[in-house]
Amino acid sequence: MFLGVDYYPEHWDNNLIDDDIEKIKKMGSNIVRIGEFAWHMIEPKEGEYDFTYFDKVITKLKENDIKVMFGTPTATFPAWLYKKHPDIVLKDKNLIPAEFGGRRQYCYNSKIYREYSVKIVSKLIEHYKDEETIISWQIDNEFGHEGSDMCYCEECQAEFKVWLKEKYKLIDELNNRWGTIFWGQTYNDFDEVPAPLPTITTHNPSLKLDWARFRSDSLNSYANMQVDLVKKLKGNFQTVTTNLSGGFFTKYYDHFENTKNMDFVSYDNYPVWGGLKEPNPPFVTAASHDFVRGLQDQNFWIVEELMGAQGHDVIGYLPRPNQAQMWAYQAFGHGCNNMLFFRWRAMTKGAEQYCYGIIDHDNHTGKKYEEVKTFFNDIQKYEDIINSKIKSDIAIFYDYDNVWSWLAQRQSQNFDFSTELIRSYIPFYNMNTNIDIIPVNKDIDKYKIVVMPVMKIVTKELHKKLDEFVKKGGILILTYRTGIKDKDNNILFGKQLPGYFREMAGIKVSDIESLQKGQEVKIAGKGEFSEIEVEVEVWREILEVETAEVLYTYTDGLFKDKACVTLNNYGKGKVVYIGGGVNPKALYPVFKKLVKKAGIYNNESEIGLEVYPRELNGEKYLFITNHTDQIKKFKNITFNAYQSQIIKESDIGL
Ligand code: GAL
Repeated sequence: MFLGVDYYPEHWDNNLIDDDIEKIKKMGSNIVRIGEFAWHMIEPKEGEYDFTYFDKVITKLKENDIKVMFGTPTATFPAWLYKKHPDIVLKDKNLIPAEFGGRRQYCYNSKIYREYSVKIVSKLIEHYKDEETIISWQIDNEFGHEGSDMCYCEECQAEFKVWLKEKYKLIDELNNRWGTIFWGQTYNDFDEVPAPLPTITTHNPSLKLDWARFRSDSLNSYANMQVDLVKKLKGNFQTVTTNLSGGFFTKYYDHFENTKNMDFVSYDNYPVWGGLKEPNPPFVTAASHDFVRGLQDQNFWIVEELMGAQGHDVIGYLPRPNQAQMWAYQAFGHGCNNMLFFRWRAMTKGAEQYCYGIIDHDNHTGKKYEEVKTFFNDIQKYEDIINSKIKSDIAIFYDYDNVWSWLAQRQSQNFDFSTELIRSYIPFYNMNTNIDIIPVNKDIDKYKIVVMPVMKIVTKELHKKLDEFVKKGGILILTYRTGIKDKDNNILFGKQLPGYFREMAGIKVSDIESLQKGQEVKIAGKGEFSEIEVEVEVWREILEVETAEVLYTYTDGLFKDKACVTLNNYGKGKVVYIGGGVNPKALYPVFKKLVKKAGIYNNESEIGLEVYPRELNGEKYLFITNHTDQIKKFKNITFNAYQSQIIKESDIGL
């Protein structure tokens, strides 16, 4: 197991390095991650490469048995390169170029930037391909983060036309599929098609979705170019990864395509950042891990795990004693199997002076150091459990075409894709079940419950796959706007909603309403759920029941007693339809029944106490994390504020 820190020795006086390495080692580290922003250190002038500094660092690390993950430094190019080729930077939608400074300002389609990237990456890998201390290469740093996934420069615009031509071959095919007859936008040639730059009103939805796909292909072709290059040149004992940032569903690139050729996926886990008053709720952090694990359906690394408060210009919430350690335990529960904390020491100069680390600017090893040390010491005892594969019976689907289609047309001011996905995640999370969050094209045979939130673009093939799944006994959960669109981002003609799923769900959507903030409506439960009344926000649909049973109905005005949530028996399985942004409190008892019926392992626990199950050799282990500053109890065990424990189920008589 690799445990360590992100270390930037070049930020400090040379006389600190020996002491740093000694302390890093004493803390229990066996790896450091270095170099991801060090292009200028390695190539201070064009064509003049100098590895002497990092050679020395690596020698010292080697003497101390500390391995290295080295980053290719393309996220920050040197000033000399910008001076020579100012056109390498991306341009925003007003065609304003990004200035030198900051980071990640390059355009993925810049041919010049690609050439320079190939040169620096090749030199770096060739220099260290036999260096056994370097066990892994990190490609770039946080692709697409901080708005770097979007660029409207002239090179991108030209490439977009080429991309469209490759996709549609004939301009009339594009005209037809996009419906350019509307507002007289018919094109005679691909070179007439615009990028979605600011205009009056809005662009064609098919154009917007294709632009998003093009952005994703641009980023991923750049990333894959680096992956292929590193793979070709590296030592065969070295691995390749990249570090994903959070905000997966706000970004214009497909994360599966981005990571599929890498040896493993890595993630930067920041449950709180910048000016946030409070950390993300525990289920949001948990869902992020489940998403990252779902990319390759295997355990993953965290190469930046928060330890201190973070922010560029504004600092937010201070993690409470043991809270950052608790987030680390939670991550290991969800499939992280190697971890590096960000960063060794807070920097006194530069843009990240307020990104606090394991030790602060005072250079004292204080309580955060002890927190990491205790954690490193403890977590290693569970290596076998940690390396075991997580097997979930529940899958939540997402799909980037849908994500981008929603980004292009939110339909409700209040709509946010992640929030809608998390809405169905929360009830299962509160039951402490294992959940996979996976791309829609993955195999579903191994699952008992599949959730497909707000999947407005649906293909016949997907419908067929799910139809077979439910007929055989699977449980499918659908939410509002399911199946309204096709792959061109156009609304289906002649279909009663929810489109292909009408028979399976046993309902018809008779009316829809976008709910803005302050316009929430109420639903009340029927039968066994009659005690429950909750709010519906963002969106609602009025459902007409055909064969389904009604679980919740609206309580307001003329829609009183009309169905909002239904359950239909179909084949040997069941289909739940949730016709709005329903508060998860109403979904919990419905999902609980389904989990029970499907015989899925779960545990009751107090809210705020996560009990995440793992299995090894037929034994269950529980990763228990207290996400609150209150004392919590699980069975007869007490958990103090932010305390975590890994417990063998049989040891507590379960
Ligand atoms: C990450 C990034 C790091 C550093 C860190 C600060 O997003 O990869 O380089 O900026 O945030 O919290």
